[in-house]
Amino acid sequence: MCGIIGCFSQNNCYEKLFSALRKLEYRGYDSAGIAMLAEGEGGGKISVRKKKGGAEGLAGAPMAGETGIGHTRWATHGAPSDANAHPHVAGKFALVHNGIVENYSRLKAELAAAGEVFSSETDSEVIVKLIARAYAGDFFAAVSSACARLSGSYAIAVLCEDFPGEIVCARYKSPLVAGAGGGALYVCSDIPTLCGEAEYICTAADGEFIRICGGEIHFLDAAGREIPKTFSRVPPESRAQEKGRGSYMEREIAEIPRALADTLAGLKKTDFARCARVLRGAKRAFAVACGTAYHAALAFKDAAESDCGIPVLCHTSSEFRYRAPLVGEGDLVVAVSQSGETADTLEAARLAKGRGAYVLAVTNVAQSSLASLAHFTVAMRAGPEIAVAATKSYNCQLLCLYYIAAQMHFYKFTRMPPWFSSLFELPGAARAAFDCFPTMRSLAEALTDKRSMYFLGRDADVVTAMEGALKVKEIAYIFAEGYAAGELKHGTLALVEEGFPVLAVSTLSRLTQKTENALQEVKSRGAFTILLSQSAEVLAESCAACKCRLPDVCERLMPVVAVIPLQYFACRMCLERGYNPDKPRNLAKSVTVE
Ligand code: AGP
Repeated sequence: MCGIIGCFSQNNCYEKLFSALRKLEYRGYDSAGIAMLAEGEGGGKISVRKKKGGAEGLAGAPMAGETGIGHTRWATHGAPSDANAHPHVAGKFALVHNGIVENYSRLKAELAAAGEVFSSETDSEVIVKLIARAYAGDFFAAVSSACARLSGSYAIAVLCEDFPGEIVCARYKSPLVAGAGGGALYVCSDIPTLCGEAEYICTAADGEFIRICGGEIHFLDAAGREIPKTFSRVPPESRAQEKGRGSYMEREIAEIPRALADTLAGLKKTDFARCARVLRGAKRAFAVACGTAYHAALAFKDAAESDCGIPVLCHTSSEFRYRAPLVGEGDLVVAVSQSGETADTLEAARLAKGRGAYVLAVTNVAQSSLASLAHFTVAMRAGPEIAVAATKSYNCQLLCLYYIAAQMHFYKFTRMPPWFSSLFELPGAARAAFDCFPTMRSLAEALTDKRSMYFLGRDADVVTAMEGALKVKEIAYIFAEGYAAGELKHGTLALVEEGFPVLAVSTLSRLTQKTENALQEVKSRGAFTILLSQSAEVLAESCAACKCRLPDVCERLMPVVAVIPLQYFACRMCLERGYNPDKPRNLAKSVTVE
C-alpha cells in the first residue's frame, strides 16, 4: 500500500529515485510522484513532478537536486488523480506518506477553519499542512509535533526548503528502513528496493524518526534524542528479481519447484528445538493470516488437527483483532504472511503476543516487521514475489506449515508423521504439475467469455478450490466461488445453468465419490464440468467434460501441487482477457493499511 523512497546523494538523485519507484510499484501503481530539493543561494528550492498512473509517467528530463522523495500510490482517500498523487506540498515542505491518518477529517476541519486550503482529497495532505503550521525554524521539531497529532498509521518522508540535504522521516505502523551505499543515503518502504543500491540497512521501529542530514543517517526519538542502532548488510535473499520474458506471475509460477527446494533446504537447517516446549505443550493453536495466506492457514488447520490432534482456530487477521479471541498464555499463534508487513496480521500477532501467547511467524521476508515481533520465525525461501497475486509464496507457505505440523507431531509423539519424507518429493511433483498447463491453457481459451464459475472440493481440496477462485477473481476479474462440494445443494446450486463452468479438485480417495456426485448434480443442470485428480481411475470414471491428471504425492500434501494448475489457469484467463496479471486493478502487493 503505497511505497515511499527518500534519497540524498552527492550528485543528482533523480535517477535513483526514479528507478526505486519502478521497484516500489508493486505496492501501488495508480499514481506516482517525485519532489526534489536543489541547493541554491540562501536555501533550497523544491520542485515536484507527479501524475496519475505508473512511475513510467514521471520519465522525462532529470529534475535538479541532491535530495529527493518519491511515492507510488495505492489510493485510500481520494481517487487516483494528478492532484491526489504525492508528494503533497505546503509552504516550504513536501511530503510522501504511506498509511492512513484515521483522524484526518477532524484535523482537516480544524485546518480549514484556520484558513488552510486543500488541493487534494487525501488524508496525507493534512500531515504536511500540520508540519508547515508547526514550523518555527526547527525542521525536526515541526515533523515530530505534527506526528504527535496523528492517529492511524504512517511512514513519511519530508523535505524542507530551509534544510537542503536533509530528509526527516517518521514511522508508526507502516514499514520504513534506512540504507546506505554507493555514496547515497536512503529511506524506503522495503528492503528489496534498496538491493543493488544500499549495502547496509537498518529498520526503524514504531515511534522512531530517521533524519538524514550532513551526509549521515540518525535514528531519533520524538524528542530528537539519538537512538543507537546497528546497520546490517543487505541480505542476499532480498535481491530483487529482474524482469525477463513474460509477466512476473508466469515467471513466479515457473519458479515454484525451485522455491520449494530452497524452502526445504532452509527448513532442514531450522532449529525447531528452540520452540519444542511450545509445540509439545500447546493445547490449542491459532492461525492468523489474510487472503491467500489465510488459505494456507486453513491447510495447516487440517494437518495439525488430523495428524497432531491439536485444535487450530483459524481466523482472518482482520477479524481476529476485533473479535476478542480467547487467546492467552500457553497458546501457539501461527501468523502467516508472505510480506511480513500486512497490517492486520501484524496487529493480530501483536495482540496475541500481548496476551502471553507464543507467536510463530511464517514469512518470506526475514527482516520483516512480523519476523521481528514473533518469538520464532520459519522462513519461506520463495525469493522475491513481485506479481500482486501470490503464487510461489503460497506453495512455500503450505510447505512450511506442513513442516511445522510435522514438528508438532514429532514433539508430541516422538516420531514424524508418515508423510514427512514425502515433503522432499514436492519440488519434483510441482514440476510434474506443469504437465497440466496445456489442458489449463485450452480451458482458459474456452472459458474466456464466462462471467462466473465455481471451484469445488471436499476437506483439504476445499482450500485449493478457494485459492483457485481467489486467483481468478483477483486477476481475471471473473466472479468465482471456492466452495465445499457438499454445500452446493444448500443454495449455490441455484446459480448453475447451461454452460456454467464448475471445476472440481478431487485428491482424497475417501471423498472422490462424493465429489463426483456433486459434478453429476451440476452436470444434470447443464454445467460445464472440469475435474482435477491424481487418480487415473477417478478421472476415467468421472462424468467431467474436461479432465486433468495431477501428479501423485501423498494425499496430505496434495494441496501444494493441486493448486499449481489453478494458478496457471487464472493467469491464462487473465492474459486471454487482455489484462496484466502483475498489476490487478484496485490491489497492491503489500497491504500495510487496515
Ligand atoms: C493473493 O493473491 C493476494 N494478493 C493477497 O490475498 C495476499 O495473499 C494477502 O494480502 C496477504 O499478504 P501477505 O501474505 O503478504 O500477508
